[in-house]
Amino acid sequence: MNTTTQKALENELNAVVQSLTLDEKIGMIHGCTLFKTRGVEGKNIPPLITSDGTMGVRAEYKDDEWALNGNSQDYASYCSSNTAIASTWNVEFARKSGAVLGKEARGRGKDIILAPGINIKRNPLCGRNFEYLSEDPYLVGMMAVAIIEGIENEDVAACVKHFALNSQETERFFVNVDVSERALREIYLKGFEMAVKEAHVRSIMAAYNLYNGLHCCENTRLLKEILRDEWQFDGVIISDWGGVHNTENAVKSTLDIEMSVTPDFDDYYMANPLKKMINNGEISEDYVDDKIRNILRLMVRLNMITIKDGIVSKNTARKRGSYNTHENRLDILEVAREAVILLKNEDNVLPLDKEHVQKLLVVGDNATTLHANGGGSAEIKALYEVSPMLGICQLLGGNTEVKYAQGEEAINLAKEYDNVIFVGGLSHDYDVEGKDRDNICLVNGQDEMINKLLDANENTIICIIAGSVVDTSKWKDKAKAIIYMPYNGMEGGTALAEVIFGDVNPSGKLSETFCYEDSRILKDDELAYPGRVLSEDEKKNMNANLTQVFKEGVLVGYRYYEKYNIPVAFPFGHGLSYTKFEYQNVKVDVTDKDIVVEVMVANVGKVVGKEVVQVYIGEKNVSEDNPIKELKAFSKVEVEQGTSKSVVMTIPKESIAHFDEEKGSFLLKEGEYVVYVGASLEDIRAKEDILI
Ligand code: BGC
Repeated sequence: MNTTTQKALENELNAVVQSLTLDEKIGMIHGCTLFKTRGVEGKNIPPLITSDGTMGVRAEYKDDEWALNGNSQDYASYCSSNTAIASTWNVEFARKSGAVLGKEARGRGKDIILAPGINIKRNPLCGRNFEYLSEDPYLVGMMAVAIIEGIENEDVAACVKHFALNSQETERFFVNVDVSERALREIYLKGFEMAVKEAHVRSIMAAYNLYNGLHCCENTRLLKEILRDEWQFDGVIISDWGGVHNTENAVKSTLDIEMSVTPDFDDYYMANPLKKMINNGEISEDYVDDKIRNILRLMVRLNMITIKDGIVSKNTARKRGSYNTHENRLDILEVAREAVILLKNEDNVLPLDKEHVQKLLVVGDNATTLHANGGGSAEIKALYEVSPMLGICQLLGGNTEVKYAQGEEAINLAKEYDNVIFVGGLSHDYDVEGKDRDNICLVNGQDEMINKLLDANENTIICIIAGSVVDTSKWKDKAKAIIYMPYNGMEGGTALAEVIFGDVNPSGKLSETFCYEDSRILKDDELAYPGRVLSEDEKKNMNANLTQVFKEGVLVGYRYYEKYNIPVAFPFGHGLSYTKFEYQNVKVDVTDKDIVVEVMVANVGKVVGKEVVQVYIGEKNVSEDNPIKELKAFSKVEVEQGTSKSVVMTIPKESIAHFDEEKGSFLLKEGEYVVYVGASLEDIRAKEDILI
């Protein structure tokens, strides 16, 4: 929008604000049902209708009760989890996923979809890691921008969440995060900053936790100083549900809308209590006017309304969306295929040749478990979900005998079957909102089961379905073939089967380090207060007392493992293919502003495939407090067998700057750096020294 149109719009917004009564305005800035604000009927201002969630549009809840209202029209497409989307390392596919979510949300009549979740996966134990993208801020930012653009192109607002530092579920309502300014800027805010500056996201959800002793929904430093003043965010800030605790703080922090979990809507902090304070002269009504302007601006941007001469009308040109369409399901399947990660494939055990598999044994809970309807606010009432067992049977057809077995029976049968597939992992009993895991070990005796299956049949294929990292140490060396598939939407079982039988060449890569339970990050500090249950009184008086110190600073995820030379099961960025890629003619040029990396990717194998070329950069003589290297660019490219493709990546020099706490800004240090080009953090194919 050019400055004149922007000015004209702001004038119109002012005119509407002038025409509204305080009661009308108050109705617009807090929930009047669990997921909706109040509109102003006589003035054609519609309510804002929000919905979860991150893996599709959640089923409808009653207006004033946390109970499903039992509709039959609220089945929806179940999309890949954010862990899965990030595992594709395919920015266009992230956009595609966002577009599906946007279309479905609009199709279901929503204005704001409460997604994507982009908190940093600081700790592999976090229960909501499946809803988040990565441990790396650059990967988070790149995927988040594309998801948001995909959503918002459908006339629906994304609501990027949870701003900020909400990287654990333990005591999420009361934990105060103590983090260095450098880690805040480089790691925890980066994705949000990119969402605001690059995707121009229209709304943002403030988190439950505290930062600097203040709840994020009332945090002037985060919301006003950083988000509004520094990043120039003029969209809508919404509280997490029940995240507001104080009227004055929330109002002044520039929070626009208070949502909560209780049905006493008029008593919300930004409802009657605020009206009373304004009428008493304790808070200026100007604060409310700012919020109304933000809300109306959002409505204009979403093509919900037009404003002419201060009169609001419905915009009839708004996209109507579409849900449960064949097209959406095809897009979901396409994304799901690229989210499957082949972690290990010794002796080329995979892919299986369906023409030669006469009898197949499938073992493990996740072969048949459906996951859509779990996880907390990310739960989906899926139109359908293809389980791995269904996917495998559909793909093989009637000529192969497929047997599903459990427990002991399975181990005896494994000796008789030439082909055995184990499908295990986690479920939303563990990957879930509201609690964190105690450790990353597999549950329900799966390690033992896998070992026994491998003893019975050394070619058993191990498939792990989960939303976060699991320990593989007890069988990783013994297993020849290991696949990891993050929760992967309604076509997840189809995608997994297609990879196992070679109809699809896997191209997913880990978006987080697969560490070991024994040596995982944060083992010693754990989440806030492990094992300690707080009394209600304690919680009320908590404020800044319950503090989680992010003492590892910027050394999150791979930055930590690499710095301290700690072995991991599978490194960040790892994922195999059924073909082989060679990196040829790697060239690095340094221009005035950029570092330009060029590489020829040659497919020297026998099948077409996709490769994710990754560029990491680090100092040549790494200072004590810096990571060895950090992801600065990546590109996914499809290459036919026997051919090569050139990949060029341009990295702005300023993106390798670190935050200088004394100066209070990013600072690009001159000196020698190393550019690493590789297929994963550890599989580096070329290194070049550069001078900055
Ligand atoms: C979650 C949010 C969610 C909201 C509404 C909160 O408990 O933290 O992610 O969008 O509920 O369901």
